[in-house]
Amino acid sequence: MLVAQNSSINTPFHCHYLATSKLSNDFVLIFCSLDSIMCSKKSRFQLTTEDIIKECGPDSGITQKHILVTGATAGIGLETGRALACAGAQVYLMGRDEGKLQDVLQNINNELEQKQSAGSVEGVVCDLNSLANIKQFAQKFTRENKPLNVLILNAGLMNYNHEKTVDGLEQMIGVNHIGHAYLTKLLMPMLIANAPSKIVVVSSHLQSGPPLDYQMLDRWNSAEKDAKKGWSMMRGYQQSKLANVLFARALASRYGSKQITAYSLHPGIIKTNLGKDIPLLHFLKKFIKTKNITQGAATTVYCALKPGLENETGRYFSDSTVTNVADKWSNEDLNIFWDWTEKVIQERTANL
Ligand SMILES: NC(=O)c1ccc[n+]([C@@H]2O[C@H](COP(=O)([O-])OP(=O)(O)OC[C@H]3O[C@@H](n4cnc5c(N)ncnc54)[C@H](OP(=O)(O)O)[C@@H]3O)[C@@H](O)[C@H]2O)c1
Repeated sequence: MLVAQNSSINTPFHCHYLATSKLSNDFVLIFCSLDSIMCSKKSRFQLTTEDIIKECGPDSGITQKHILVTGATAGIGLETGRALACAGAQVYLMGRDEGKLQDVLQNINNELEQKQSAGSVEGVVCDLNSLANIKQFAQKFTRENKPLNVLILNAGLMNYNHEKTVDGLEQMIGVNHIGHAYLTKLLMPMLIANAPSKIVVVSSHLQSGPPLDYQMLDRWNSAEKDAKKGWSMMRGYQQSKLANVLFARALASRYGSKQITAYSLHPGIIKTNLGKDIPLLHFLKKFIKTKNITQGAATTVYCALKPGLENETGRYFSDSTVTNVADKWSNEDLNIFWDWTEKVIQERTANL
């Protein structure tokens, strides 16, 4: 098993030290993240989607890949879908806005034609903000018996205010984690039927920080008077991105015997629409070494295509390199996480 050469990517000491100081939650989490980012491995930082596709070579079996990318109408997801289709994969681009999706499809189809690529793109509409919508989508997709062997859970949002999904969940945990977990649950029979299959979860170095606080998450997801207690933009985002990391680990241990592997990753810091209404975030990006969009989608493409990653299932990647960030969670942590996720899904989908 490969272990990250730069163990400073995971910096629990710094995080715990800062967490006990009197700084506000948001600043603590941002500093933790900056610390991780500054220390991140430099050598593969600049690789683009094209570099990774070349590196993976013909053994990646890209023309045999049927890949669904969530959040494919903008940013990292759009570039991930575009690059994979141009390299020969059959890609389902998922978006919540049909108009946006049509524009994206048209642009990529033009490029595919120009490049005479064997790849293809197909648009699928689904709003991860609604569990009913996810169910409807998955039922249709399954009925049509579409082949699927790579699921890329990329869609994400960062909210300035405490907002709720249609089902009453705090929106960052609801969309970034629970919506994706429900989608995965419903598509799992197809992934198993087409195995070996991969699930790639786009997390963030902002996952670094306190462990999941299930009591707090239940409160945020409730209609109680004090539902917002303990909530802040960065705490909400951190908890949802940590859930992404645990989700990949939990999937890897639960579905390994079915030839399903799962990975989580940090894409880098990229100027996208994420948190575009949050002034603090844009200010901070001025001080951070950012990636361009093809560099930002490279680690996702790496996890989706790289042959021989089976032994790294469940692990967390950054700069197209495996790290030890996800390794610290015990089986007990994963069981508690899995049960909580299942409980939330069951409660909120009982009447659908
Ligand atoms: N950018 C960064 O620096 C950075 C750093 C670390 C991690 N990440 C992670 O990278 C992933 C992609 O983010 P990005 O930077 O590419 O952001 P982005 O440009 O805002 O793209 C996010 C995508 O998610 C979609 N989405 C949002 N809410 C959705 C919903 N309810 N249902 C379905 N789709 C939804 C968006 O759809 P619309 O086009 O309709 O809005 C868009 O396609 C996220 O998981 C994010 O947490 C980003």
